[in-house]
Formats: sequence, structure tokens, C-alpha cells
Amino acid sequence: MSQFWKPGTEKPRIVDDEEGGVLFLSTAASSSSGFGYGSMEKQRQRLPVYKYRTAILYLVETHATSIIVGETGSGKTTQIPQYLKEAGWADGGRVIACTQPRRLAVQSVAARVAEEMGVKLGEEVGYTIRFEDLTNTNTTMIKFLTDGVLLREMMDDPLLTKYSVIMVDEAHERSISTDILLGLLKKIQRRRPELRLIISSATIEAKSMSAFFQTSKRRRLEGEELGPRMEPAILSVEGRGFNVQIHFAEEPVSDYVQAVVSTVLSIHNQEPMGDILVFLTGQDDIDTAVKLLNEEAQSNGKNSSGLIVLPLYSGLPRAEQELIFTPTPRGKRKVVISTNIAETSLTLEGIVYVVDCGFSKQRFYNPISDIENLVVAPISKASARQRAGRAGRVRPGKCYRLYTEEYFVNEMSAEGIPEMQRSNLVSCVIQLKALGIDNILGFDWPASPSPEAMIRALEVLYSLGVLDDDAKLTSPAGFQVAEIPLEPMISKMILSSNELGCSEEILTIAAILSIQSIWVSGRGVQKELDEAKLRFAAAEGDHVTFLNVYKGFLQSGKSSQWCHRNHVNYQAMKKVIEIRGQLRRIAQRLGIVLKSCEGDMKAVRKAVTAGFFANACRLEAFSHSGMYKTVRGSQEVYIHPSSVLFRVNPKWVIFHSLVSTDRQYMRNVISIDPSWLREAAPHFYQHQPHNAIGH
Ligand code: CDP
Ligand code: MG
Repeated sequence: MSQFWKPGTEKPRIVDDEEGGVLFLSTAASSSSGFGYGSMEKQRQRLPVYKYRTAILYLVETHATSIIVGETGSGKTTQIPQYLKEAGWADGGRVIACTQPRRLAVQSVAARVAEEMGVKLGEEVGYTIRFEDLTNTNTTMIKFLTDGVLLREMMDDPLLTKYSVIMVDEAHERSISTDILLGLLKKIQRRRPELRLIISSATIEAKSMSAFFQTSKRRRLEGEELGPRMEPAILSVEGRGFNVQIHFAEEPVSDYVQAVVSTVLSIHNQEPMGDILVFLTGQDDIDTAVKLLNEEAQSNGKNSSGLIVLPLYSGLPRAEQELIFTPTPRGKRKVVISTNIAETSLTLEGIVYVVDCGFSKQRFYNPISDIENLVVAPISKASARQRAGRAGRVRPGKCYRLYTEEYFVNEMSAEGIPEMQRSNLVSCVIQLKALGIDNILGFDWPASPSPEAMIRALEVLYSLGVLDDDAKLTSPAGFQVAEIPLEPMISKMILSSNELGCSEEILTIAAILSIQSIWVSGRGVQKELDEAKLRFAAAEGDHVTFLNVYKGFLQSGKSSQWCHRNHVNYQAMKKVIEIRGQLRRIAQRLGIVLKSCEGDMKAVRKAVTAGFFANACRLEAFSHSGMYKTVRGSQEVYIHPSSVLFRVNPKWVIFHSLVSTDRQYMRNVISIDPSWLREAAPHFYQHQPHNAIGH
């Protein structure tokens, strides 16, 4: 069924796969000269994907959709867009797009490709992520962008006419935006047969993806002049992975951060040179592990000298990203402690050892309780294999799994669940509506979301005043909310601030809520951080506290020393200023009058309520443990210790998001008056017993 073929020597012969009408093309792995440095051009030619250059170009030429599977580091992301450009796909002002689920990956690969092409980033090669556009309308030929940004571009240009080829990268991640994008691109292709799609990923059930893009099995008639073949082609790039020895924990591990630290130190003491890649779950874990390892290096010089410990997560400042990609100096050992971003999105050179904690942060949504939160949850076997594979790129490597073999075999699920099936769909629904997709339940999804989640999203959007009785976008509110590149609840909060006369304050809050954290965190500094927060703490809650921090930062003349003294993250504040500036421009475009409420925090709290009424909670009467229940779903929730309202426990609050560990914790909380809820969302709260929302 598949053909063996050596690229570069003759034209590929392609045979149809009998069962699915799928095209298969594959070649045997050929030996590689191994790893080494040389000129940029030589390095490019050493990548596994190089041998497939002709084949890839041939497939893209002849097929509307090509699915390219190849292991991480084989050169898919950095090379294929360049091949396309070299073959003329960017001639005549057309653009080649390559999407990524993660912003950090967008920035990093764009920088790498610009460097390989010897051009300035932002000219021939550019990138766009939310709130940051480094492209040039006249000169950019290759554009990297998040899949979310490409979805937004469809609002202005529904057929994405400026692109000749769109490469949807990292499709195996099945992020919610990737799935929406795939569904829409399939539609666009019917209207624009000249558009080429490349779907690329590290592991993919190529067949199911191919089945999704299978539009018709009609073959070309003899002599018939037609565009590309509509049935997708599949190409698998054989890599040159080395063997990776797997070590399992003998006993279940209770504290994986501690286990990471001791595993890294024992690798360092007992194993030959080679860099270490550690997978942890998020910034907090990672910062803690980095700190513990650095402390170890200082107190116990002999055991850990020569270790360079670096964190890696989305939102890492540019200067720190660069450290991760610089080659390790001789005699040193680099330890990169990463989220699952290093699983497939980014390639790190020189990794020989992998330490896998077995978990990642994942979004889960329950449409019945209407609760969505970020949970540290077990990874799948597929992810575990990807992580292990990172150790075998340079030479044979070792992977240390911080879980037992028994657990891996019997309990780990084979594959992850697409994000679409475990997310709140409010943002997704409004985007589709804005693109004129009315029958959302009948939309052609790569993986269907649950009808409950859909209905729930429609209901929230209706209550937000964004959809009307016929589930169409309202005018102007619905269209305005869709136009702001933030989640609909934040957009609604911004719109309401116009009527309430507090748009300046709400724009600041929106900017701060759209970044991870403005505080400097880490194990050991908790006391100082709490003290610093007290200096800004507002009785109304975290949102108002943010306003105080922002004001202090401006009054200090945007000083980094001021940030340092107050445990405020300087890089984060710079980002806040930048995002705020952009939101301000969008707000002005929408006709929002920029106005400050001059300290009237009731207006600010009402605006927050107008957007986030669905997240209202009431303190349980006589609860000394600080237990709240959500008004709509009666779910048990608590104020997170990082909130300024922790232990203050006002009777009525609204939260921005939930995280779940041993309990469901509310992050970023503000106190409200319950009478505002009915005012903000009469429909949403109409079935609540009168006493449930006060009065
Ligand atoms: O997309 P895929 O995982 O197949 O590979 P890639 O990201 O195109 O990476 C190909 C090669 O480019 C890797 O082996 C890295 O050595 C190199 N690269 C780099 O040095 N710096 C980057 N920022 C990205 C890639
Ligand atoms: Mg890639």
C-alpha cells in the first residue's frame, strides 16, 4: 500500500490506497551523517526533511491538501515554508502562512527562519501573535502566526485571499483554535481551489485527518483540465532518532518537583556529559525547581557545579528564550526545565537526558456545573513517548519517568482528548458566529464538541447580549464584542465601561488579566510577596488592587527598581503598557469614550459584573472555612490564597478564573452587590429563587 521511494532521484510514484482513497508516500530512513555544526546551508541540508524537498513540492503542487508527518526536529516548521518560497509560492505578492498553537513557538521559529534566510525579522519573514505584529504588508513572504490570529484574520478576509499556502502546524496538539481552523479551511478550499493546505504534525492519526479532508473520491477524467486533486496526500518524513533507554520510578512519586531536583543531580553526578530536558507542568513548578537546583549549586558546589539551569514556558521574556537556544559551553551541562512546549513545538539541540514528571496543565470544562479550570492532569502515552523522544536526537539517550511502569502500562490513556471536547466554548461560538457560520451544531468539526457545552455557550452569549433570540450576533454589541481580540466576557466588560464612565480603569484591568501574572513568584519569597501585595491591596478585591499597582508603576516613571522593591514583574508591566495601548486603540475605533471614573470603584465593579456575571459566587452562611457556592451551578469554590480577598471573604464575589488542586480555587476575585447580577443578566438569573441572589 505504501511506496518506497528515495526523494531527489526520481519523480515520486504515487498509488492510491484502496480502502480510503488516500495517497501514501513514504521512504525508508537513510543513514545520516550525524550531528554537527557547519554553515547554515549545510545544517539545513542535514535535516531529515531535506531529502523530501522535491516530494513535498510535488505533492503541494498536485494536491489541495498534503498531510506531512515527521518527528520533532526533522525540519518541518523551519524548512517547508522556505522550500515553498524557493519554489515560487510567495511570488506576486502572495504569502505563505504557517500557524502554531503557541506564541513562543511562533516567535522562535520566525526568528530562526529569518536568520537562515539572512533577512531581518519583520521583512521577508515575519510573525503575528495577539497584540504583536511583526510583518510588513509589502515585503513579507513567509508569515508565522498563531492559529488564533489566523482565525481573527478571517473576519476581515473570510477567504484568506492573500495566502497561497497555509501550513497548519502541530496539528496533533488538537488545540481548540487548530480544530476550528481546520473546519473553516475545509470550507474555504471549496471556494478557493487554488489554496493549498499543509497539515503537519509530529504524530497524527494521518488517516483520520485525511478522512476529514476527503471531499470527494471523484477522479480526474482523461484530458480534463482541473485544479489540484482534492483527496489529501500523506507524506511521512522518516527521522533519524536514536535509541532512548527508558527508566521508570520504582515507587509512585509524591513530590515531583523534589523528585526532579534529585534526578537531575544524580544524572549530573553519574552520567556522561549531555544536556538535560525536564518536563514539569507550569511556571510555578518550574520556577521552584530552577530555584532549588540553583541553591543546590551554591551550597553544594562539588555536586552541581557546571549546571546551567534555565526555565522554559510561554511568556518567557525574549532575552531568556535566547539563552535556551545557545549551545552549551564546553564542560558545562545545560538543564532546561520546561512545560510541554518542548514536547513538540520547539526543538532543543544537545539533549541527551529527559526527565518526565508525567503531568501537564490541561483545561477541563464541565458543562453541567459550568466550571472550567486548569488542572494538573496525567499526560497520555502518546505524550510520554514524544517526551522520551527528545532525548534521542543527538545520540542514544535516556529518559527518566517519574512514574511506575505499571502505571504507564495500565493507567495512562493512549491519546489525549482534543481541547475542543474539554473547553468552555464561549469564545469559539462567537468567532464562528462572527464568520457567518450560523448552524454551529451542524458545523463540520474534526472532533465534535458536546451539545451540552454548545448550548451552555449559546446561553451565556445570549445573556451577555451578544446573541439575539435567533442566535445571531446582535448589532452593534455582538459585532463589537467579536471584534475585540479577548474572551467575550472581557470584551463585554470593556463595552459596559463606556456607559459606566470607567473605560480607562477597565482597559488597565483587561490588559492585566490577559497576562499570566504581574507578580514575581517562587518558593521562599511568599512572605515578602504577601507584604508587597498588602501595600496595594484594595478592599474591593484583586481587580482594584491591579489598578493601584498600575498607578504606582506609572508614578515611579515605569521604574524597574520600583518593580523590584515591590515584587512586581517588570517585564510583565511593560507588556501590560503595550497591550493596554492596543486595547485603547481598539476601544477608540469602536467609539468607546476614554474616561476615568476618578476613584468611583462601584462603576468598575459594575463593569466587571456586566462581563463576568456567570462567575458569581455567594459565601455559604456560617461557613468558617470560607466556602462559596457558584450562584448558577452550586459548585463549591474557595478564594485562592494569592487573592487579596483571601480570608476577607466578602459575602458576594465574582471570579475571573478557577484553578483546581485539592479544591476549586477562584483566582482574581472582586466583591459585588448581588442586585447588580439581575441588572446585568436578567435572563441568566431569572430562574434563581429570589433569595438566592439577595433582597
Ligand atoms: O518542525 P520540526 O520539529 O520538524 O523541526 P524544526 O522546528 O523545523 O527544527 C529543525 C531544526 O532547526 C532543529 O533541529 C533545530 O536544530 C533548528 N532550530 C534552531 O536551531 N533554532 C530554532 N529556534 C528552531 C529550529
Ligand atoms: Mg515544528
